[in-house]
Amino acid sequence: MVVNAVCLVLGVLAAAAAGLWAWRRWHPVSFWYGVGFPVRAVLVYLTWHHVASGCKLTLKRRRLRVTLDAVPVLGAAGRGAATVVEHKRRVRRVDVERAPRLGVLRPTGLGWRMRLRLHDGQVPADYEKAAEGIAHAWRVHSVRVVDVRPGFVTLWATMRDPLTEVSVEPETGELLRVRPGKLENGTDWVMDFRVVPHWLNAGATQSGKSNLANAIIKGLAPQPVALVGFDLKGGVEFTPYAPRLSALATSRKESVDLLADLVGEVESRMALCRAHGARNVWTLPEELCPVPVVALVDEVAELFLMADKSEKDEVSKSATALLRVAQLGRAFAVYLVVCGQRIGSDLGPGVTALRAQLSGRVCHRVNDPETANMTLGDLDPAALDAARAIPAETPGVCVVAGQDGSWHRARSVFVPEAVAEQAARDHAHLTPDWGVLIGSVPAVRPAA
Ligand SMILES: Nc1ncnc2c1ncn2[C@@H]1O[C@H](COP(=O)(O)OP(=O)(O)O)[C@@H](O)[C@H]1O
Ligand SMILES: [Mg+2]
Repeated sequence: MVVNAVCLVLGVLAAAAAGLWAWRRWHPVSFWYGVGFPVRAVLVYLTWHHVASGCKLTLKRRRLRVTLDAVPVLGAAGRGAATVVEHKRRVRRVDVERAPRLGVLRPTGLGWRMRLRLHDGQVPADYEKAAEGIAHAWRVHSVRVVDVRPGFVTLWATMRDPLTEVSVEPETGELLRVRPGKLENGTDWVMDFRVVPHWLNAGATQSGKSNLANAIIKGLAPQPVALVGFDLKGGVEFTPYAPRLSALATSRKESVDLLADLVGEVESRMALCRAHGARNVWTLPEELCPVPVVALVDEVAELFLMADKSEKDEVSKSATALLRVAQLGRAFAVYLVVCGQRIGSDLGPGVTALRAQLSGRVCHRVNDPETANMTLGDLDPAALDAARAIPAETPGVCVVAGQDGSWHRARSVFVPEAVAEQAARDHAHLTPDWGVLIGSVPAVRPAA
């Protein structure tokens, strides 16, 4: 009888375990919301005090506490008689640790968010410092401070790295917007050139810079924009995309000429805007609005390096022209994506000024911490740590910072050269003629 009951219980447990395994295997999303998250939430609430104390987020308070103490009273019979114990109330000062108050845990696809009330004297940076410790304590992939309100922080815990594999939906085709990959929070990484006009794409070799350039070319190829390439590696990177490029410079000499064209184009757009009382090309009458130009520069350091004095003139010309495009291009729809291993002041004069104009920053894996500092500037230190921690096994993972100071871990979607080349060929008919665009060649109007 007892054996039967035990067998029955074991059978039920085995069936439940198998059911849960199958649920998790075949429908992980509903399993997470139905089982995984509630279990996690209970654990988080149960362990929060302990974890907060370990991560030094608790506050010590001295409290008065009433205790009942046992006090021996000598019996009336005197020595040798049984001791009588009396309980007396006593008020003592004791130290108590208080953990920050945890709000309601809200599930997300990859983990959960939780709001915490800061203790007096605490700042969000205390939580950024403690985030790694909290992640280890809860055995999750990462914990990050994602929102800060006066007196509150929101932490976001993720169970696994969402950037291990990324895929994106087809482009929506909005002008000058591309979605080259995913952000760590699971949303699309959007590069909108009308919002952030110029981008710095930095990282060590094999970190994914060219892949990001491929993704941008693939995203922009079907759009009514002119693409221009500066490929100082002798053209090996961008020549295959030539069908969709309106112009391509493969040496510094060619770059000087092409940059002069770009500056000339910016100036003529400026004159056009002035003549029509417009502050930027987007407020011009539609028929006058010029074609946006996106210039991609690969190995930017080559523009600044000089072997001897004879190259000085060329270097200073190209540096000045690039800086002018960066400074003036925004309002006149001339945008830059500058790729390089590092872009520091040691490259030469003008580099720091150029970097300041490149408000969109993408920092791939770097070999030295200074490059991360240089690329991400004075963002919060957690961004620099995240950039330095990018492993070599995940090329394409990067830290992306916009001009508002917010930052995200992100990963570009893998775009092999062949795919980008195919996109360039497929949309070759959309390539504006460079001579016509800059007005050096009269446009051939289609016969009526
Ligand atoms: N987002 C990505 N996802 C997967 N693999 C990538 C990604 N980006 C780059 N890679 C791989 O890493 C290699 C090096 O990338 P690449 O863009 O050429 O680096 P870089 O231009 O920085 O030297 C590529 O050949 C590709 O196989
Ligand atoms: Mg490359």
